[in-house]
Amino acid sequence: MRLAGRVVLITGGAKRLGRALVLALAKRGAAVAFTYNSSEAQARRLVALLEKRRHPSFAARADQSDVGQIALAVKAVEKRFGRIDLLINSASNFYPTPLASATAQDWDDLVDVNLRAPFFYAQAVAPGMLKRKSGKIINMADVSAFNPWKEHLPYCAAKAGVVALTRGLAKALAPHVQVNAVAPGPILPPPDLTPAQARRALEKTLLKRWGSPEDIVQTVLYLTEGTDFVTGQVLVVDGGRLFS
Ligand SMILES: NC(=O)c1ccc[n+]([C@@H]2O[C@H](COP(=O)([O-])OP(=O)(O)OC[C@H]3O[C@@H](n4cnc5c(N)ncnc54)[C@H](OP(=O)(O)O)[C@@H]3O)[C@@H](O)[C@H]2O)c1
Repeated sequence: MRLAGRVVLITGGAKRLGRALVLALAKRGAAVAFTYNSSEAQARRLVALLEKRRHPSFAARADQSDVGQIALAVKAVEKRFGRIDLLINSASNFYPTPLASATAQDWDDLVDVNLRAPFFYAQAVAPGMLKRKSGKIINMADVSAFNPWKEHLPYCAAKAGVVALTRGLAKALAPHVQVNAVAPGPILPPPDLTPAQARRALEKTLLKRWGSPEDIVQTVLYLTEGTDFVTGQVLVVDGGRLFS
């Protein structure tokens, strides 16, 4: 799928990896819509930057723990650009939830944002893609879907669910829509990671370094522009974190 002239929706696009994807896909000629939740100032700045570069863009606030807001965000993007050709489910929340103290509210919050929302975003964009017999969905998973961290079980279970969701959506939307996932390893440390924790993460990675947002951008470009013959797959981009 050539990106030039296509319409992309990226969830959680105002910061970090989502922002890198917004900028990269806009540079490839796509009209890029993205959602944000709390990062309104960053979202506005990003839209201003894209406008300055004459890239068509659109930002919608949507709390993805609310399914109604998901449907509204998709409708707003379709109203603005006419359709959605590529959905990237990137928004995520992440915090420790030790087994002894995690609450039902923690579970719902982490699973709703990381797993339920990607399902309902897919449900909302699917009719247009099926009608046009063309479209792609890319879900951001995590290496912890395969090797869970004991202090983050609801998050890891949600990301494992994202892997199952990806495979199931690939079946449900075949043969014209391809659905894949990217499972990053250490790319951008969470803001609260201590230097000691960052060092430990590197020690456990074969390549002994952090990746960069560009590694994720290139993987997404491969899954969009590089091939239309991959579906139901998870590409692990982790510097060998899973195998160390
Ligand atoms: N960074 C890494 O190294 C890494 C590693 C493994 C997996 N991943 C996965 O890759 C994706 C992107 O990573 P990242 O580090 O860039 O993600 P992130 O910074 O943790 O989160 C991205 C965005 O998600 C949005 N978000 C959180 N709760 C939301 C809610 N209730 N409604 C709507 N949006 C919400 C936030 O938007 P606002 O700021 O607007 O609130 C945030 O900017 C995620 O799915 C993550 O799990 C990343």
